[in-house]
Amino acid sequence: MATPENKLAFDGGWGYDPAPESTDHINIKNRYGLFINGDFVKPEKGKYFDTVNPATEERTSRVADASQADVDKAVKAAREAYRTTWGRMKPAERGKYMYRIARIMQERAREFSVIESLDGGKPIRESRDVDVPLAAAHFFYYAGWADKLEYAFPGRTARPLGVAGQIIPWNFPLLMAAWKIAPALACGNTVVLKPAETTPLTALKLAEVIADAGLPPGVVNIVTGAGATGAAIVEHPDVDKIAFTGSTNVGRLIQKTIAGTNKKYTLELGGKAANIIFADAAIDQAVEGIVNGIFFNQGHVCCAGSRLLVQESVADEVIAKLKDRMETLIVGNPLDKNTDIGAINSSMQLEKIQSYLKIGKAEGGEMHQSSCRVPRKGYFCRPTIFTGVSQSSRVVQEEIFGPVLAIQTFRRYDEALVKANNTPYGLSGGIWTDKGSKIFKMTQGMRAGVVWANTFNKFDPTSPFGGYKESGVGREGGLHGLDAYVKLGAK
Ligand code: NAI
Ligand code: MG
Repeated sequence: MATPENKLAFDGGWGYDPAPESTDHINIKNRYGLFINGDFVKPEKGKYFDTVNPATEERTSRVADASQADVDKAVKAAREAYRTTWGRMKPAERGKYMYRIARIMQERAREFSVIESLDGGKPIRESRDVDVPLAAAHFFYYAGWADKLEYAFPGRTARPLGVAGQIIPWNFPLLMAAWKIAPALACGNTVVLKPAETTPLTALKLAEVIADAGLPPGVVNIVTGAGATGAAIVEHPDVDKIAFTGSTNVGRLIQKTIAGTNKKYTLELGGKAANIIFADAAIDQAVEGIVNGIFFNQGHVCCAGSRLLVQESVADEVIAKLKDRMETLIVGNPLDKNTDIGAINSSMQLEKIQSYLKIGKAEGGEMHQSSCRVPRKGYFCRPTIFTGVSQSSRVVQEEIFGPVLAIQTFRRYDEALVKANNTPYGLSGGIWTDKGSKIFKMTQGMRAGVVWANTFNKFDPTSPFGGYKESGVGREGGLHGLDAYVKLGAK
């Protein structure tokens, strides 16, 4: 509870001393070319664009803007590597390269986490404890499958598809690169990957690791650019598979573009997950789970718990505790180890979030924000909740992708289920209750790819991830994630 004493602590009476992670050991070049055929090369048209640190609005580096000609060069390199080396290599050998990549990532973990936070704005605690270790874990996990595909698909043969085109977003730049690259390589495919235009640096660092690991040239190619570069990958006739994570709108566009071709695809799109708190839940634990689900990482998470459904009899208690906890959240320098909420990824994303705050209020919602100070420079947003919203409110239905939580109440479990399922999305959800039977009842009725019980946003490479409805097509992670990168045949 916010007693006068601890309120003082967060108002500057005595707070935490600044504890910024040092950037001395970081090596970011002024300019990056495209990683094609094992080397960094200049873009054909000689165009570069800035990537900025959203916490300071300063440039972190300049990266190449890949044209269609560059994408074509990358696809040709990938095809050649597939034909001559990677597609033919003994699976156990492929696994060795992947283990090597995973180990180098671990060795360079600090560098990766600092660059992730500098380029994307996420708190160092998150990049250090979640993004980087999980990215390495994905390489370790899929390295293990490389020579065991016959056990993954018993009685069938599993052949690689060829060249995989992969397009990833800005919310988990390194982790998404690992999610995409590791299963593709394990199955014998080669890759052309495009990171998001606001967060290209850790993918380019990964390119350095891939070169250091001695991977044959052309097996992984990394091209930077914005939507047009992504579209050139999707449209390329010699790409056999598209893996995309990002907005539902672009996902739809991709589906249209590749309809009628032989390209296989997986799409991981938006979400509007509900956390459901029953009266019998451990309330403090549930409140912490809600905070973790929507406020940490600025709500830049496709499976964020952006809605809260709380049983009416405990609603006042939960909301009061949530407001107290919000007061203690620290918004600010992503490189500070005490920061809970870092910078919003870009000015565009901040504008989008701010427009939703206006929409929520105009629709009659009651908005509450924590009273914390935010830095004047950079893109920041206070943790925000809306109460008094209805199922049809746009802040309840639409993905905001910011630290904004829409709260509704319910009386019976079936009412909670109807409300939880009533959005166009179905990526994830959460249940908080003391009763195992309620967990089973609810999870069976929830139309969502992942449902957490008495926890939230927990990831593991062995576990599949993906959505229902407009949240996507296909699964990534675990055994299921291999399926997206193979052609199955009779033995
Ligand atoms: P976006 O979907 O435009 O960007 C994702 C990736 O797709 C980026 O690498 C981008 O360069 C690429 N891309 C853009 N247009 C493309 C096209 N026509 N063909 C191929 N690739 C293309 O997402 P954006 O604009 O960065 O964010 C908008 C909203 O999307 C966010 O506010 C959020 O609601 C949602 N989003 C969801 C994510 C998720 O993990 N599900 C991740 C990022 C954004
Ligand atoms: Mg950036």
